[in-house]
Amino acid sequence: MLKSVGLAVSGLGWIGKKHAELIKMHDGCQLLGLCDTDSGRRRIAKQLDVPFYQHIEELIERERPDGAIIATPNQWHAEIAETCAQRGVHVLIEKPIADTLSAARRIQHASDDTGIRVLIGHHRRHNPLIQKTRDIIRSGTLGKLVGVSMLWALMKPAEYFDVDWRCRSPGGGPNFINLIHEFDTLRFVCGEIRQVCAFADSVVRKLDVEDSLSIAISFESGALGSIFASDTASSPWSWETTTGENSHYFHADRNCYRFLGTSASLAFPKMELWEYADNAQTDWQHPMKMSQRQVVHADPLQLQLEHFCRVVRQDERPMIDAREGTRSLAVTLAVQKSIRDRIPVDVEAISSCS
Ligand SMILES: NC(=O)c1ccc[n+]([C@@H]2O[C@H](COP(=O)([O-])OP(=O)(O)OC[C@H]3O[C@@H](n4cnc5c(N)ncnc54)[C@H](O)[C@@H]3O)[C@@H](O)[C@H]2O)c1
Repeated sequence: MLKSVGLAVSGLGWIGKKHAELIKMHDGCQLLGLCDTDSGRRRIAKQLDVPFYQHIEELIERERPDGAIIATPNQWHAEIAETCAQRGVHVLIEKPIADTLSAARRIQHASDDTGIRVLIGHHRRHNPLIQKTRDIIRSGTLGKLVGVSMLWALMKPAEYFDVDWRCRSPGGGPNFINLIHEFDTLRFVCGEIRQVCAFADSVVRKLDVEDSLSIAISFESGALGSIFASDTASSPWSWETTTGENSHYFHADRNCYRFLGTSASLAFPKMELWEYADNAQTDWQHPMKMSQRQVVHADPLQLQLEHFCRVVRQDERPMIDAREGTRSLAVTLAVQKSIRDRIPVDVEAISSCS
């Protein structure tokens, strides 16, 4: 029988509590302790019947976890990852890997120097819907991919902005908090992003961080893409509302992304494949037909946890290691620079900045 993996969670806010509950329910691992600088979070440890600490060093020394999930605000990811690495504890770091490239590189170095494994929490890569989409595109079913169109628009509740870091740059705002998911998904499904050109405004909330963005993207493959994003729009068209990934959100039976190819196009997440009815007559005057590709749904956070346990046991390499996470962060930073300087920005130029 496989040895149960001992895990800890640092940061017990919105997502950290969810990770802790998942670990508690999962057979292959054991929740050894929880950590948060806010003593008020002790009640979560009480509910889950595990020890609570306010310092990760003390938790590691006393509970000796094999791995830790870092779910603190972005600016603490590097420091906590280094603390874990120095003590031989493998880490799953919530996305984004960090708030700056230099902090992301500190995590890469900590992993290289100590041999600990780093998995970045871009959990959507574990979603069977995304894996299927990637398979469809890579198999050539769409022909040559020419473009992708993404809509991520929803209304965040007012109390979401009671948390200070979510309202400040860098770290807060939909580009950093939400669209990093879209960028990582795009990279996974469509290949590397070469350049971005973006506009943003805080037209409704007037915060330090944007509430709406419009982004043009070019891929290394030559495909083009566009994203419109807003967290202040009354709209059913977003990943959260359409995929049904998380029951916390209202579910709308709609599509939010479209992948467009020379032979066919795919509407996501309903997995509607549009192609010409007669493959000898493939132009705009001829009828197209739609068929739905079947996907067996599964909770990507649960799948990510199972993968992390295998990573800790050294049975698998991390699906998204520190370098991969850094590359997705670089896209976010390129968007930020494009907004600020009002110019198109090369992702490679951002990635290679020291
Ligand atoms: N994968 C996802 O879909 C997803 C969803 C939400 C958040 N996130 C990411 O998870 C992280 C946390 O986001 P959140 O919305 O849960 O934040 P949050 O503000 O709700 O909670 C953060 C918690 O961390 C604690 N904390 C702060 N500094 C700490 C430190 N140095 N050590 C230990 N605890 C500390 C805070 O007291 C708080 O309880 C962020 O990186 C965010 O981008 C990912």
